[in-house]
Amino acid sequence: WKTIDDMDFKGKVALVRVDINVPVEAGRVTDATRIEKIVPTVKDIQEKGGKVVLLAHFGRPKGQVVPEMSLRVTLPALEAALGQTVGFADNCIGAPAKKAVAAMEPGDVLLLENTRFHAGEEKNDPTMAASLAALGLVYVNDAFSAAHRAHASTEGIAHRMPSCAGRLMEAELKALNAALGNPERPVVAIVGGAKVSTKLDLLGNLVEKVDHLVIGGGMANTFLVAKGIEVGKSLAERDMAETAREILAKAEATGCAIHLPTDVVVAKEFKAGAENRTVAAGECAADEMILDAGPDTVDLIAEVFARCRTLIWNGPLGAIETPPFDAATTMAAQKAAELTRGGRLVSVAGGGDTVAALNKAGVAEDFSYISTAGGAFLEWMEGKVLPGVAALEN
Ligand code: 3PG
Repeated sequence: WKTIDDMDFKGKVALVRVDINVPVEAGRVTDATRIEKIVPTVKDIQEKGGKVVLLAHFGRPKGQVVPEMSLRVTLPALEAALGQTVGFADNCIGAPAKKAVAAMEPGDVLLLENTRFHAGEEKNDPTMAASLAALGLVYVNDAFSAAHRAHASTEGIAHRMPSCAGRLMEAELKALNAALGNPERPVVAIVGGAKVSTKLDLLGNLVEKVDHLVIGGGMANTFLVAKGIEVGKSLAERDMAETAREILAKAEATGCAIHLPTDVVVAKEFKAGAENRTVAAGECAADEMILDAGPDTVDLIAEVFARCRTLIWNGPLGAIETPPFDAATTMAAQKAAELTRGGRLVSVAGGGDTVAALNKAGVAEDFSYISTAGGAFLEWMEGKVLPGVAALEN
């Protein structure tokens, strides 16, 4: 794929697909990270004399105009991040968009209304892609976190005009390739979260690619069950035990060491501050549930980290939203941060929960790379081709 450096923007309208699908509460953006991350792309295009038209989705309006999902809400945060006024057109295609684009001068930035207000966006309808493409002369995709969607503004449009990756897209692809495509070995992956059933492809791909796989969260319980270890009333998918055994067998065949909790924090009820005890895995009583990994498990994870050169992290080790069951995730994150600061480990993390946990642990800044992507990060970890990236390659 090409980058901004390879393209001519002088006097041209650049259609820049960004992902500013940010959390909003009471009409205000509560986390502007994704907005701040697009600044380098906008500035570089401006420096090359271009006019920047931002294409983006917001929420899942399913092809309808849903006023609460208007991108207008992001304007103040966008203007603050860019340090300039940003224009707005209430439709991403048709007369309102054309008129607003025609009035632009080099250096201007214009945000177009939610692409998902049109059913053609998610259908990747060629007419929709053509209507978008007609607005500019160059397409820049800076939305890695939406690249797993083959939509008109992420995929279709790239086939219709000169296209390149934006700075954030470049950074994401480089960091992720360094972690899983061509990593320094040994590589350890942490996969946590509630359910094995939603991460089967991920586990299947990782056991082929990484040297160590740490399994945490609710999904670790399913693996414990698969090994005949009792987990009381813990969250576990007992019907997935056979599948879990297949994954363990595959890991053995590929030489990937799987690490499950050796000790666990258990409680009778799932609430913040619940009375709890730490026991060996297997000693969870019938009326108890596992809510976090224990300190021995954290030590084991720290030892694995110390032996590895690359870490990829997706998913928490425990019920992090309910303290004190965030302890193992926090301690493991601090260990990873310490090794990264010391230049011993390349650490890459992604997914909404994971990034929130690292922020809470105060170590997100120390990681080598934190992806802005949720679903796209997972699909990339699953080894899938991301249509938005593939379209830039052709
Ligand atoms: C995200 O928030 O992960 C991206 O913006 C993609 O959103 P989607 O899952 O609604 O396609």
